[in-house]
Amino acid sequence: MAPSSTAAKSTFSRRQFAGRLGIAGVGTLLARASESRARPQAVEPAPPDARESYWLSVRGQFLMPADLGVMNAANLCPSPAPVVEALVAATRDMDRDPSFPNRVKMGEGKEATRTLLAEFLHVTPEEIILARNTSEASNLVSSGLDLKPGDEVLLFSDNHPSNLEAWKVKARRFGYTVKIVDQVNPHPGAEYYLDAFTRQMTDRTKILGFTHLTSTVGDLFPARELCRRARERGVLTLVDGAQSLGLMEVDLADMQPDFYASSGHKWPCGPKEVGVLYVSKSVQARVWPSIVSAYPGAVGLSKTFESFGQRDEPAIMAFGEALRFQTRLGRAAIHARARDLGQALVAGLGKIDGVKLWTHPDPARSSAIVSFQPGSLDVAKLSAALYEKDRIAGAPRTGADRGGLRFSPHFYNLHSEVDRALEAIQRYMKSGV
Ligand SMILES: Cc1ncc(COP(=O)(O)O)c(C=O)c1O
Repeated sequence: MAPSSTAAKSTFSRRQFAGRLGIAGVGTLLARASESRARPQAVEPAPPDARESYWLSVRGQFLMPADLGVMNAANLCPSPAPVVEALVAATRDMDRDPSFPNRVKMGEGKEATRTLLAEFLHVTPEEIILARNTSEASNLVSSGLDLKPGDEVLLFSDNHPSNLEAWKVKARRFGYTVKIVDQVNPHPGAEYYLDAFTRQMTDRTKILGFTHLTSTVGDLFPARELCRRARERGVLTLVDGAQSLGLMEVDLADMQPDFYASSGHKWPCGPKEVGVLYVSKSVQARVWPSIVSAYPGAVGLSKTFESFGQRDEPAIMAFGEALRFQTRLGRAAIHARARDLGQALVAGLGKIDGVKLWTHPDPARSSAIVSFQPGSLDVAKLSAALYEKDRIAGAPRTGADRGGLRFSPHFYNLHSEVDRALEAIQRYMKSGV
């Protein structure tokens, strides 16, 4: 399945595999993985101390060619074959017979996904809104709360625009004030941010919006403790979980935010344009629906808040399949694997002369998102060379703020891809691009 031109390019990765697997038949394993590609099978649960050969079999469930290492989960993840199959099967079913009687099961499938999401997040289906993505979910909060002049909204400077610019635009309309806690690099530790946010909370603060794990450099936030401090001061919390759902265990019963927003097409590896907004029962009466149309959900808040008009129900159903896939594989194993690959990148990049890491190496302050500045190399050119010559895809970060390259590996990536990326960066740092 891999194009013939890849043979030379993948020499390095095969050698690395051989070292890591400690066996000779790496070529056979890679070929088998390619053969099984696109053939959906029930994924085997990750054994304790899963070896590289296990992760290679997991990789075989993804459509990506064997020679392409995409480490860009923070932006968009591929879906494994069972999810693609579920999406295609439900879409075919709908298009073969779009009658109401045939679509009854789609409504049921949508509710099944709601239930699965609730289980995944340790909350109730009555608190789950099936949104399109994190952007929409966060905006449903900033548009839905009654805020007025004199009120304050407290935000983190490194929030995504959907949880930063969105509030600023609405502040112009509704007259409330936005206060910002600035990011500090390197991550100064949980205590620093707990202190910085707590000091900014006043009697006027109505809501705190922060990011569980930042997309820029992968700063991990003490979400549970921040939510607790806000709650004690009567301040609501909106946690942007775009980078945490599907990567790490997210237990909202423990974290206790008022709102949590996330996307299914990132780390959960679901279909595109599926997302979630959690709204705690205790605050549901305080948030207005922003879209009022037809076809609401069947339970709890979704009955009044989720009448978004016609939806892509097959995609929502396949989102459920993505959650099943991760649950079967093992969520703790997924996080451990992504972290392991991220740590390998951090360790390797730290050894390359001239590379400046923006991501804190301490696993208490980061997770699986690794950003760095490759000296004075042109990031756009480097990114293009990595993709075209080395078949490694990351995300170029060309802005002035901690610019460089970001790698965000997930459980479908392999150590050989990390090694290949490190070897290539080292080479370009020496010879230029
Ligand atoms: C932290 C964070 N929040 C929100 C978003 C927006 O996600 P989406 O485009 O799925 O709405 C992103 C996207 O990268 C993100 O990284």
